[in-house]
Amino acid sequence: MEWSRQSWRKLNILQQPKYLDQNELQEVEKRLQSFPPLVFAGEARNLKSELASVCEGKAFLLQGGDCAESFMNFNANNIRDMFKVILQMAIVLTYAGSCPIVKVGRMAGQFAKPRSSDEEVLNGVSLPSYRGDIINGFEFDELARVPDPKRMELAYHQAAATMNLLRAFSQGGLADLHQVHKWNLGFVRRAEINEKFATLAENLTQTLDFMQACGLNSKNTPTLSQTTFYTSHEALLLPYEEALTRQDSLSGEWYDCSAHMLWIGERTRGIDDAHVHFLSGVKNPLGVKIGPNGTSDDIKKLSQKLNPQNEAGRLNVIIRMGADKIGEKLPKILRECKAEGLKILFSIDPMHGNTTKSSTNYKTREFDKITSEVRSFFEICASEGVHAGGVHLEMTGQDVTECTGGSFNVTDETLKNRYETQCDPRLNADQAIELAFLIAEFLKKLKQKG
Ligand code: PEP
Ligand code: CO
Repeated sequence: MEWSRQSWRKLNILQQPKYLDQNELQEVEKRLQSFPPLVFAGEARNLKSELASVCEGKAFLLQGGDCAESFMNFNANNIRDMFKVILQMAIVLTYAGSCPIVKVGRMAGQFAKPRSSDEEVLNGVSLPSYRGDIINGFEFDELARVPDPKRMELAYHQAAATMNLLRAFSQGGLADLHQVHKWNLGFVRRAEINEKFATLAENLTQTLDFMQACGLNSKNTPTLSQTTFYTSHEALLLPYEEALTRQDSLSGEWYDCSAHMLWIGERTRGIDDAHVHFLSGVKNPLGVKIGPNGTSDDIKKLSQKLNPQNEAGRLNVIIRMGADKIGEKLPKILRECKAEGLKILFSIDPMHGNTTKSSTNYKTREFDKITSEVRSFFEICASEGVHAGGVHLEMTGQDVTECTGGSFNVTDETLKNRYETQCDPRLNADQAIELAFLIAEFLKKLKQKG
């Protein structure tokens, strides 16, 4: 089938809201189409070439952010803290793991959520599920749960302001290496992790001093004072994605300019369905989530459709099977994709396959299960001779209590203290940095093995 921006509309589509007023929807779409793009095609091409180098085993992808961004928690401090934790994780990985890190936030557009049930039942009352702030309201209230197209414009403006701040942080001095490692980890409460980071910071200071003595400083070496930070989200709400899809004036190719990278969720990756078709026509780097029931056959078909030229950097397969299933499922997948010669960047999302309910009735994830799935991923990749390309996390710069365990031990009982997510449980800043140190160990081992 011929691709156009609208051609997905003829196909089967899952996980969409039913807007009551079609005229209003069309008016919003028209306005969105007239708004400026949030990213440029050239930036998406740069990310693609950085991901190609990950694919070739020369770098590592760090992708993370909220499960769902929200209108309520939108403020500069939250954006700054998320940016800071991702940057600090990247420093741990670069320095302790000796590996260049490609940084991609789940930010500036990560609003729409697939749900396992269309209805949410609370105390015997059933309402349509919350689908993310870009679609309806989080409050358990009949009116709030009605999908409202105007929310797409609010989401666009929030994404634009977030993007603006991220660009300022990346280029305007906050990301200067001479400063970043000196940030005290105010949000990290565990002395052990603070100490580990302090040691790393001291070593880094020595390295920077040495470079300074050799004549390399922030003024004459921009890579020391600036960083490149990319954005990504699940391209779930296609009217929004379509409206932000633009033709690049240089190449004549189509790019979804709502983010640098877009991914397709585990629930909407049907090979003949609308989401796969829509993203097949844009040139951004793409991700696809693969759960425990995914097969190498699924991945081969997805790759044929989404990456027919078999270009490195175009396709990121994000494995999210769960700590207990990855050992049984992943080896065969890697082996068969490798035999086929597919250029795929494999990364691990250790969050979505490890979701449980706590004894106190919170949706949570155990830190040990998360680290266990990451460890298995590295081991399986190593034994199959495939580069373990990256990690995809739900995390925050705030001191929340949503995942249990970690060195600052969150328990079933303390989950209630700061449980703030509007969707899935995120790693807090402590847990994220702790995980980064663990991944750095794996990267170092890989490096030593050559
Ligand atoms: C997500 O990343 O928030 C998500 C819904 O993931 P998945 O599609 O893997 O379930
Ligand atoms: Co999630």
